[in-house]
Amino acid sequence: MRVAIETMAVIGAGQMGSGIAQVAAQAGLKVILADASPELARKAHDKLGASLAKLVEKGKLQAADREAILGRIRPAASLDDCAPADLAIEAIVENLQVKAEVFKKLDALLRPEALLASNTSSISITALAATTRRPGQFIGMHFMNPPPVMALIEVIRGLQTSDATYAAITELARKFGKTVVTSRDVPGFIVNRILIPLINEACFALQEGLASAADIDTGVKLGLNHPMGPLTLADFIGLDTCLSIAEVLHRELGEDKYRPAALLRTYVAAGWLGRKTGRGFYQYQGR
Ligand code: 3HC
Repeated sequence: MRVAIETMAVIGAGQMGSGIAQVAAQAGLKVILADASPELARKAHDKLGASLAKLVEKGKLQAADREAILGRIRPAASLDDCAPADLAIEAIVENLQVKAEVFKKLDALLRPEALLASNTSSISITALAATTRRPGQFIGMHFMNPPPVMALIEVIRGLQTSDATYAAITELARKFGKTVVTSRDVPGFIVNRILIPLINEACFALQEGLASAADIDTGVKLGLNHPMGPLTLADFIGLDTCLSIAEVLHRELGEDKYRPAALLRTYVAAGWLGRKTGRGFYQYQGR
């Protein structure tokens, strides 16, 4: 049965979850934005308001549209508020147990025909689907950071994902104005399978003293026409996230070429996680 997706719950109101909520609300969906506490959901809503206000200032968004978008996003008091959703997408910490716990609750809350999706960058969709009672209605919907700006959504079919679920989700992604690529459920999917080894190689290059961080980045940025160099991009994504994906690729694909650089491990151990902590390969003022 094909579900009409009009109300979407987004679980996790961090950088990715908030961005996904914005994308959905901009496309006219009603969004329920949930996090571990009502305060976190409320703060994320305020932050979205401020970021949309900047777009209004720049003349890229009408003030009335900003109000309408914000009005369609409701911060949740608890996960229970997600019950009316036709689709719930999770964008929380990359931990199978924690995600499974949330999906178990959503599975019990949502009506039987509703769909479940994960924005995971590295955890098996098949394994997550298997923790629910609706594995055919489970899918990977991987947004790129920042979701409102990036043109791609990677759709990942788990072993159990039904054709109807796949059709509904690709249709929704197109309604969001995104281009879809479809990946099998293999660690890293398409984008991170290519991106993380690139970032890891840049870490090895820095570790070996091949060049400075700035020159490695400028080499890739101007030499390959990438919008950001790999180390700047790693700081933007979060070094902990990059390391965790690199570890999954190394462990699950079992090849030495995916071994995370020691430098990346050391930075993460130091708490130098990139922009979010004010320091990664570069330092960020006023954060
Ligand atoms: N909503 C709508 N538009 C927004 C926005 C928002 N919340 N935030 C920014 N924008 C718009 C800006 O208005 C601007 O539009 P313009 O070009 O028409 O003026 C545009 O987006 C770019 O924003 P900025 O001017 O602030 O910044 P930059 O020009 O420096 O671009 C960037 C920033 C888009 C992040 C660019 O540097 C970039 O594309 N970097 C690479 C990002 C990337 O590779 N992401 C993928 C990472 S991999 C991933 O996510 C997978 C995960 O699993 C690890």
